[in-house]
Amino acid sequence: MILSIISAIANNNEIGRKNELLWNLPIDMKHFRKTTSGHAVIMGQKTFESLGTTDGIPGRPLPNRRNIVITLDKDFKRTDCEVVYSIEELDERLKDTMEDTEEAFIIGGGQIYKLFIDKADKLYITHVDAEFPDADTFFPIIDSTKWKIVSEDKHEKDEENIYNTNFVIYEKQ
Ligand SMILES: NC(=O)c1ccc[n+]([C@@H]2O[C@H](COP(=O)([O-])OP(=O)(O)OC[C@H]3O[C@@H](n4cnc5c(N)ncnc54)[C@H](OP(=O)(O)O)[C@@H]3O)[C@@H](O)[C@H]2O)c1
Repeated sequence: MILSIISAIANNNEIGRKNELLWNLPIDMKHFRKTTSGHAVIMGQKTFESLGTTDGIPGRPLPNRRNIVITLDKDFKRTDCEVVYSIEELDERLKDTMEDTEEAFIIGGGQIYKLFIDKADKLYITHVDAEFPDADTFFPIIDSTKWKIVSEDKHEKDEENIYNTNFVIYEKQ
């Protein structure tokens, strides 16, 4: 299995505030949907809650993807997505259910990126050219001695997307 991380990060690695994103960038939403559709997505319980509600209950699985939520809360149960209670359980689950060539995506948030950045094979990072001093959640430092840029795709801001963006793919050196 190929383990990838996907995230959109600002100039100081800011990714969120008060369990929400810091921006509305349709270009990045489209990129995220296109990149992850048809694949497994793995997220922390907080990010799952940030995606919306289901019948009034916090948490909403992303359509057209296998959703896996990681939590330490043994009482957290869902019927509309998979739940794992530790990294070890996640590792076992993925080993048992994924082919070697299949790609799974860690989609956040801050705590979960930190847990997985050293295990990941590939990073899909949208660099958002802006600063958010009130951010409370951050992506870990991308160590340039460990990660090599393999592609870049820059987009100028426009009426819909108010910040310049750069879609960068990093692979482990
Ligand atoms: N910019 C982006 O690309 C992006 C992407 C995703 C999310 N975000 C933002 O990131 C923020 C959320 O991130 P966050 O760091 O607060 O939360 P998070 O990483 O989404 O989830 C944290 C939760 O994961 C579970 N967890 C943590 N360590 C664990 C472990 N070792 N084993 C099992 N479960 C574990 C815990 O769930 P329990 O508390 O249930 O035990 C913990 O509360 C939001 O603002 C969101 O909008 C940004």
